[in-house]
Amino acid sequence: MPSKTALITGANKGIGYEIARQLAAKSFHVILAGRNEARVHTATDTISKAGGSCTALVMDVGNRASIQDGFESVKSQFNSLDVLINNAAILLDHSTAFLNASPDMIEDTLQVNALGPLYVTRTFLPLLGDGSRVINVSSSAGQICGGAGAYAPVYSMSKTLLNAISMQLSTALRPHNIVVNAMCPGWVRTEMGGSHAPRSIEEGAETAVWLATDAPLSINGQFLKDKSSQSW
Ligand SMILES: NC(=O)c1ccc[n+]([C@@H]2O[C@H](COP(=O)([O-])OP(=O)(O)OC[C@H]3O[C@@H](n4cnc5c(N)ncnc54)[C@H](OP(=O)(O)O)[C@@H]3O)[C@@H](O)[C@H]2O)c1
Repeated sequence: MPSKTALITGANKGIGYEIARQLAAKSFHVILAGRNEARVHTATDTISKAGGSCTALVMDVGNRASIQDGFESVKSQFNSLDVLINNAAILLDHSTAFLNASPDMIEDTLQVNALGPLYVTRTFLPLLGDGSRVINVSSSAGQICGGAGAYAPVYSMSKTLLNAISMQLSTALRPHNIVVNAMCPGWVRTEMGGSHAPRSIEEGAETAVWLATDAPLSINGQFLKDKSSQSW
């Protein structure tokens, strides 16, 4: 029987799916959340057939009503969550110049990539117990210590905000004994990363899986890549 339960958003493909697959292989019960019902069921079927313990959850992290529905569904099936991984994200702007990005593009990106993890974490908080772990899948693109690059400026800004949200959540959840970290998976061969990225999906999932399992709970309020703390 699985001893721990993890909820992963955006888990029907890419890095989120791989994180779910690896955690299932480590005897977690994994809840795969995604907005596309058919794809979420395909992903859970694959993990089940490989012997993993998992549940499908249809939840659009860009929609607060959907997040609330997702919470009610999980609460009716599980007593608690040990791990929450906010992985779902969109990258819409690519080579769009910052000053040309449309308001819809800006608002949709911030809604899914930054406010989504904030609202998911706040909504699911009643299920997150003592010693649980929240992992926000961010990106080096959000680091502002070296200035800002011109590629995908809106996506990058959303990850900067996600990093700030991660820090605030870490402070706010410290009294609950819940640790919150942000991490970058590196440039990974997924639909978002493209086929020329240097990292495999397995490599991209590694730091998130470590933060969900073996990382000391003293690591809190940090931004990590390759299991090492980075500048914000
Ligand atoms: N790949 C890279 O090189 C790279 C680099 C740095 C950081 N990251 C980060 O790593 C994470 C995973 O990226 P990836 O490369 O695996 O991307 P991906 O292959 O595009 O997968 C993204 C996942 O997020 C889901 N998603 C998007 N919007 C959603 C919403 N509103 N509600 C619920 N799910 C939603 C997608 O589901 P649908 O099928 O419904 O679209 C999909 O499952 C993201 O946070 C990304 O920013 C990736």
